[in-house]
Amino acid sequence: GRTVSATKWAFPSWAAAVSLVLVTRRKESVRTSFPCLTRLSSGYHSCREAVAAYYNCPEAPLKAQDVILTSGCSQAIELALAVLANPGQNILVPRPGFSLYKTLALSLGIEVKLYNLLPEKAWEIDLEHLESLVDEKTACLIVNNPSNPCGSVFSKSHLQEILAVAARQCVPILADEIYGDMVFADCKYEPIATLSTNVPVLSCGGLAKRWLVPGWRMGWILIHDRRDIFGNEVRTNVLLSWQQTCRVFSMWIIRSLTDTGRYFCSHVGVTQSCLAAFLPLFHVPSLLYLLPDMVFYPHLHCNSLRVSPAH
Ligand SMILES: Cc1ncc(COP(=O)(O)O)c(C=O)c1O
Repeated sequence: GRTVSATKWAFPSWAAAVSLVLVTRRKESVRTSFPCLTRLSSGYHSCREAVAAYYNCPEAPLKAQDVILTSGCSQAIELALAVLANPGQNILVPRPGFSLYKTLALSLGIEVKLYNLLPEKAWEIDLEHLESLVDEKTACLIVNNPSNPCGSVFSKSHLQEILAVAARQCVPILADEIYGDMVFADCKYEPIATLSTNVPVLSCGGLAKRWLVPGWRMGWILIHDRRDIFGNEVRTNVLLSWQQTCRVFSMWIIRSLTDTGRYFCSHVGVTQSCLAAFLPLFHVPSLLYLLPDMVFYPHLHCNSLRVSPAH
């Protein structure tokens, strides 16, 4: 059997320490030539404060220093991956899932292991399959909830089951929660960090979906680490990664996060009504419709495809 030692939680390895030095050197050279850029490496304090205030809650408290602003959620995922996993290690990625995880991981020399989602169980994770994939080189578990492309939203109890696997196996979670605010009214979304007492979570999000501005490239990482398992290393590595966020748009974060009603209006409600109105029109008896819990398309499942043999 495989034994998991508590030291597996320790970050980073020597490779991450080297990258820290390299990144610091690179920052130094950039600082001399472009002093204005390097001040932005983690984002304006006021913007980080606005994001922290938006997501802060008693179950998962957040301060400005727990927020790193990035160039879109894509860069948030890339930074989180780079800081959690070293080349040669592996990460656990949902199937079906958002293709970017694999692209980014492979570009960083990180191996990808795909765990199954179960359509017949509202796209819940096949927990047995997930746990069977963990080995000594597993560096992180990506949980995408609400899910692209499944349109599913995990229940509280399922999230707790996922956390139990992560805790048992000492695997930190990279939570892609960019669709968090886009669930239909009859469904409740819970950020995974609000349910975690011991598993450290890097939650990635951004303005692209909920605020409908994908081209503005504004994203963030929320660092949830109440047991201080990541320690300073992960935080410092993310902070020192050189990145550029657009200043004009980052200031817009403050406005959008504090004044969301006017802009977003009833987008989610309208989408849900459209879906409800159109679905009966497309009803085909042999197809099984898997309806989304959030602003996503329905999936069609073809149970038996009978094709007449050619004579
Ligand atoms: C699940 C998921 N995560 C992350 C992203 C990337 O978001 P961004 O445009 O902010 O980089 C997308 C975009 O489609 C997405 O669907």
